[in-house]
Amino acid sequence: MGRYLLPEKNTIIILENISQSFGGTEVLSSINLAINNSELLTFLGPSGCGKTTLLRLIAGFETPTSGRVVIDGKDVNALPPNHRKVNTVFQSYALFPHMTVFDNVAFGLKMSRVPKPEINRRVSEILKMVELEPMAARKPHQLSGGQQQRVAIARAAVNNPLVLLLDEPLSALDAKLRRQMQRDLKHLQRRLGITFVFVTHDQQEALSISDRVVVMHNGRIEQVGTPAEIYEEPVSLRVAEFVGDTNIFDAVVLGKSPDCPDGSLEARLEGQEKQCLLKTRREFADGQNVKVVLRPEDLLVNRKQPGESSGIMLSGMVDELIYKGSTYDIVISLQSGKKLVVTEFFDEDDESMIASVGDSVYVSWIKGWEVVLPDENPEPV
Ligand SMILES: Nc1ncnc2c1ncn2[C@@H]1O[C@H](COP(=O)(O)OP(=O)(O)O)[C@@H](O)[C@H]1O
Ligand SMILES: [Mg+2]
Repeated sequence: MGRYLLPEKNTIIILENISQSFGGTEVLSSINLAINNSELLTFLGPSGCGKTTLLRLIAGFETPTSGRVVIDGKDVNALPPNHRKVNTVFQSYALFPHMTVFDNVAFGLKMSRVPKPEINRRVSEILKMVELEPMAARKPHQLSGGQQQRVAIARAAVNNPLVLLLDEPLSALDAKLRRQMQRDLKHLQRRLGITFVFVTHDQQEALSISDRVVVMHNGRIEQVGTPAEIYEEPVSLRVAEFVGDTNIFDAVVLGKSPDCPDGSLEARLEGQEKQCLLKTRREFADGQNVKVVLRPEDLLVNRKQPGESSGIMLSGMVDELIYKGSTYDIVISLQSGKKLVVTEFFDEDDESMIASVGDSVYVSWIKGWEVVLPDENPEPV
């Protein structure tokens, strides 16, 4: 046992060099991850990248081809699901339709022959936490979808698991209910104080509910970080493109900037004659091709050409305005033919800001907000 002592008091699950193959095909490769106590951690990635498989490995429905799952300091590879202090909330909720809310939640405790007074106490307590106590006598069909889901969570949480696993629990809901449920889930997780490991392929959902996000691709972890780190400092183009909208420029590094000791590069951006400064903490070689990523909300549209000293100015023409409610997207064609998308908030006090189709404009960006990434050749040569 000594070998699997927790590296930190705060860690509840360790995935140690996990690989998983089915019929000779590797679907998870060298997964290493420490999950913290009481955090809401999300596995985010496109369909088929291995999220469900990873959750099933934690739950104990699969055994890894190699590597170890450690829960609460113990190697659980040989332990069946019901001995793992981990519970799964299934997408279908799988409630018993003929039983009341109370009996649905009490079911597992009854099966384990917990004394009746204790069952009553524990079920009432958890129903209070999920704010369903007044509905204890109802049957599932008398509840809304959101309430049914809370019953499913209460049922999974009533046996005091260390971790709840939730596999795309909101994917069947329409957009508005989904937003509401995201907030509810997060509040519920805080109240329960237990670790939630959540799976989604929806980047907006992952960013808005998670303490940390694990971005997955093709059976591997691409990046682990807070939502802000993932969005603002993606480690690869793949992450940048998966977690939000992007404008991507080609550039070539000319050298380190002598007047900027804190990590600025001199570079030449595609379509630009003048060299520019790019801010980055990464190391790049002189002459290296890079990609410069800018989020639509980091770009600025200017109606007039600003003065000489103000750095990068890309001239173009407004192609299209797309109304988004509280913002609008401005699609701009640069002289090179490249299209950019800029997101702007309405400024009701300054109508002159609002561009029109056909306007000549100059695009710049908030200095230092560019993300500079190596130009990875996606096709192995
Ligand atoms: N029991 C299994 N047998 C064979 N292949 C499987 C099995 N479970 C999952 N896979 C494959 O593993 C890959 C990852 O699946 P999954 O974990 O369900 O991805 P995700 O949940 O991210 O959509 C897919 O290619 C899937 O077809
Ligand atoms: Mg899945």
